[in-house]
Amino acid sequence: MNLRTIRQRVVPLAVTEGAGVTVHRGIGTPALRNLDPFLMLDHFGSDDPDEYIAGFPEHPHRGFITFTYMLDGHMEHRDSMGNRGDLRPGGAQWMKAASGVIHSEMPRQSEGRMRGFQLWINLPAVEKMSPPAYQEFAAAAIPEVTDANAHVRVLVGEHAGQTGAIRDPHTDVLYLDVQLAPGANFARALPDAHSAFVYLFEGEARLADDTLATHTLTVLGDGDAVAIQAGSEGARFILVAGKPLREPIVQYGPFVMNTREEAEQAMADYRAGTLVRAG
Ligand code: CO
Repeated sequence: MNLRTIRQRVVPLAVTEGAGVTVHRGIGTPALRNLDPFLMLDHFGSDDPDEYIAGFPEHPHRGFITFTYMLDGHMEHRDSMGNRGDLRPGGAQWMKAASGVIHSEMPRQSEGRMRGFQLWINLPAVEKMSPPAYQEFAAAAIPEVTDANAHVRVLVGEHAGQTGAIRDPHTDVLYLDVQLAPGANFARALPDAHSAFVYLFEGEARLADDTLATHTLTVLGDGDAVAIQAGSEGARFILVAGKPLREPIVQYGPFVMNTREEAEQAMADYRAGTLVRAG
């Protein structure tokens, strides 16, 4: 067993998105342009309505999957496939934008805390122009593995015999929300070739004799297993891993393709009103 160590620590960059929402971007900035197959990770978290109330009005995507995990708050999703989603605490949304989706994500609350993560997962070239798809899971539909030391929510992939609500055949994504009791240890295997990161958002923890910084994206180095120990306050983090696609990545804002021509075509299609394909 070869335990993974810390390769890189990325302090997220505060970015204004949508109609004026503050998000903290850990993947998708000059410090970490991408972590193949992951293109972007935004953490949103605020008790101040001014930081989230404007929401994310209609905007397009092409070429990848958006995966949203709500910790607190209530958002309404609408998209060009005709879906109307209701995102509540503990729920998750998987949207395969693929050939093209236009959607909005708007707060359904005017006060209180809004907190969660949005991850962009790249699609292989053969899937980028496939039909879009949408899946949404309420908190009760997310499998959980609980013992005296840990409470693990299995969003994508497999953990301790539980299969996540979402299966990702292209990049074999693992996405866990792990809550550890004070001093508890968490360990599991991770395929050696898979990119992996940890984002600690509550409490304190250590990985391979290093401290994990809170609200910092920690990229893991090579190895076939990961071990994390919670501090005296306990810890809560997401652990995410996936198989790299090793294909060229050309990103024009919300369009992520393999070539410049394809990215320009996405932009042209959006301007022409043909991003969303009929049927
Ligand atoms: Co979006």
